Amino acid sequence: MALALASVAAALGAHARRFDIDVLDRCDSTNAVLLDRAERGAPSGTVVAAREQTAGRGRRGRTWVSAPDDSLTFSLLWRFPAGTAPAGLSLAVGVAVARAVTKVGAGETVRLKWPNDVLLDGRKLGGILVELVPGAPHAAVIGIGLNLRLPEAMPAELRPQAAALAERGGVDANTLLAAVLAELLDVLDAFAAAGFAALREEWQSRQAWPDRPVRLSSDFAPPRDGLCRGVDTDGALLLDVDGRVERVLSGEVSLRPLTP
Ligand code: BTN
Repeated sequence: MALALASVAAALGAHARRFDIDVLDRCDSTNAVLLDRAERGAPSGTVVAAREQTAGRGRRGRTWVSAPDDSLTFSLLWRFPAGTAPAGLSLAVGVAVARAVTKVGAGETVRLKWPNDVLLDGRKLGGILVELVPGAPHAAVIGIGLNLRLPEAMPAELRPQAAALAERGGVDANTLLAAVLAELLDVLDAFAAAGFAALREEWQSRQAWPDRPVRLSSDFAPPRDGLCRGVDTDGALLLDVDGRVERVLSGEVSLRPLTP
C-alpha cells in the first residue's frame, strides 16, 4: 500500500501523538524540506515523508535515487536537550532502523555498516543522512531511505550491491515507517540521556564485519587495510592496522570487506 497519513498513524497507535507527520506526493528531498521547516521553527517530532523525491540527498554529496513508491523516504526533526553532543547520532539511528527492519520481516540478516548504511545479506538496503539544523546546534534532521523494491531503471552495475525488502516477501511502507519511528523514539530518548555510549553495544552486535579484514577508502588519501574492531563511544570506527588500533572519525570515507 502506498504511504498514507491515516495508515501510518493507525500503525503507530499511541506513539502517534509524539509526531507531526506530513506525507507528500513529491518533493526534491525530504531532508531539504524539513531543514527549511526546522529553520522556521517546526517542533521536534515533525516528520516529512515523500512517495517520490526528485533530488534525494546521499552522503558525500551523492544523490539518493529512487522511483515513486519503490523506497520509503522520510526525514524526522529531533530537537535534543541543550548540551547533547551529536557524536554518533547517525550510528544510533542505524540501531533503530536495524531493529525495525528486523521486526517487520527482514529477520536477523540486517547488519550495520559504518558509518551510515543498512545492509541485507551484505547488500545495501538503506542509508541514513543526518544534517544539523543551521543556527540550532541541538536540532538534527534525520533522513532515512530504505528500498522496498529495486527500481527497474536502476543501472545493471549497481544491482549486485543493492537489496530491497521485496526479497523478504515485501513490507507495507506505512507499517515500516511506523516501526522505524517507534524504534527511533526509544533510541533518541536513550541518546539524549547518555549519548551514543547507550547504544554502542547494540551497534557492535549488529555490525557487518566484526574482526574481519576491511579496506577504508577516501577521495583524499591512499586506502588503509585493517581488521574492523567496530566503533568507540563517539561513533569513531576502530581500525586495527597491524595491531595498532586507529580511530577514524571522518564520514568522508567508505568501507568494504576484503574477503567475501
Ligand atoms: C546514503 O546512503 O548516502 C544516505 C542516503 C539517505 C537518503 C535519505 S532518503 C530520505 C532523506 N532525504 C534525503 O534527501 N536523503 C535522505
